[in-house]
Amino acid sequence: MGARIEGVDVPVIRGLSFALAAGRILGLVGESGAGKSMVGRAIAQRLPAGFAITAGALSFEGEELSSMRPRRRQELLGRDIAFIPQAPMSALNPVLTIGRQFDEHLAHQNISGRAKRRARALDMLSSAQLGDPLRVMDSYSHQLSGGMCQRVLIAMAFASEPRLVVADEPTTALDVTIQARIVELIADMQRQHGTALIFITHDLRLAASLCDDIMVMYAGRAVEHGPARAVLSAPAHPYTRCLQLANPEMSSRRQALYLLPDQMPGLRQLRDLSGCCFAPRCPIASKECREIEPPSMAVSADHLAACIRPEITPQIAPQPVQSRSPLLSTRAVLEVEGLEKRYALARSCSAARWKSTPSAMPACASQKTSSSDWSARAAAARARLPNYWSVSSNHLPDGLCSTAGM
Ligand SMILES: Nc1ncnc2c1ncn2[C@@H]1O[C@H](COP(=O)(O)OP(=O)(O)O)[C@@H](O)[C@H]1O
Ligand code: SF4
Ligand SMILES: [Mg+2]
Repeated sequence: MGARIEGVDVPVIRGLSFALAAGRILGLVGESGAGKSMVGRAIAQRLPAGFAITAGALSFEGEELSSMRPRRRQELLGRDIAFIPQAPMSALNPVLTIGRQFDEHLAHQNISGRAKRRARALDMLSSAQLGDPLRVMDSYSHQLSGGMCQRVLIAMAFASEPRLVVADEPTTALDVTIQARIVELIADMQRQHGTALIFITHDLRLAASLCDDIMVMYAGRAVEHGPARAVLSAPAHPYTRCLQLANPEMSSRRQALYLLPDQMPGLRQLRDLSGCCFAPRCPIASKECREIEPPSMAVSADHLAACIRPEITPQIAPQPVQSRSPLLSTRAVLEVEGLEKRYALARSCSAARWKSTPSAMPACASQKTSSSDWSARAAAARARLPNYWSVSSNHLPDGLCSTAGM
């Protein structure tokens, strides 16, 4: 796949080859700009302007995706090939309820009958562990958390029993506490439905925990490909080794994280690169590395790496731990003790009353506030509030007051 930049064709994805069987998970791993999402976009045949598939084949169950009639491709996408996006909140339509979006999605899969589609949607939302599917169906995306939106999208993706799902960094936009549960849900769904899954992530360890095989990408190329366990435990390519060392371990031992110098080459730099594209950042690069682009070579039966010196890769060592600067002073910069914060929600503070009578604002507001101030604050708070009235202090910054502590 290439892009045309200033009249010159730049290879964005180069010589990528893999086959993914039903029920298997392939992890595409690499830093930002490695070309991971472009693989998903090539499968969906939705490339940015100026990008085109210039060579090679992309075949789904024997049908060539790039030369397929648009109508046939439209039938496959969303039904036989489904996508789980990176940003769940923006992937859902904010002006349609989840139920309406689910219905449209299932109607596109030719499931006839509104009642049948509703039953299927409720069933899928339950299996995506959304506690109250009826409420979710009637909600808009802004009334759900990011994790709930991603569960809705996962339910939609698997609702049509697709044969291939592409999940592009599905947990990156979520709180870290929710990430593991979302990954577990995708894995459960994948197992239940026997789907082939491409899981795109920058996190090598996460990929290794979920995937059967891992393909590490660098500057649009697969630099290492093999069984997940082998790639994580004995990386053969220096880039994979650096990613492994850059990943913090969950142990009490203090260790320095590996700092890869510079950045992944952008499209303009790629145009001018010769030899191994990782050479400018590689800790074991030699003169020959800058002269030839290393082909992908077998390091074991099913493990490939594009490096001319894979036997030296294990010698790349973690950087030494820097000692902390000595404590300048033991005097605290900030002290907090016994702080409490409450919102005094009186009966007179109901949403309806707040809307109609700005004077009936929380009595605990200690500062003097004029009626016009309250009107402005109430309007701002209403704009932020979801349609249903949630008595959550997180939604109510006005009227909060510290009641104890220092
Ligand atoms: N819409 C776009 N327009 C121009 N260049 C793009 C666009 N999207 C991605 N690229 C470039 O294509 C290359 C691969 O990008 P991408 O596949 O999105 O990387 P990744 O998903 O691994 O972060 C990068 O050099 C990136 O800058
Ligand atoms: S070929 Fe050379 S520069 Fe490239 S990854 Fe291997 S050792 Fe490093
Ligand atoms: Mg991406």
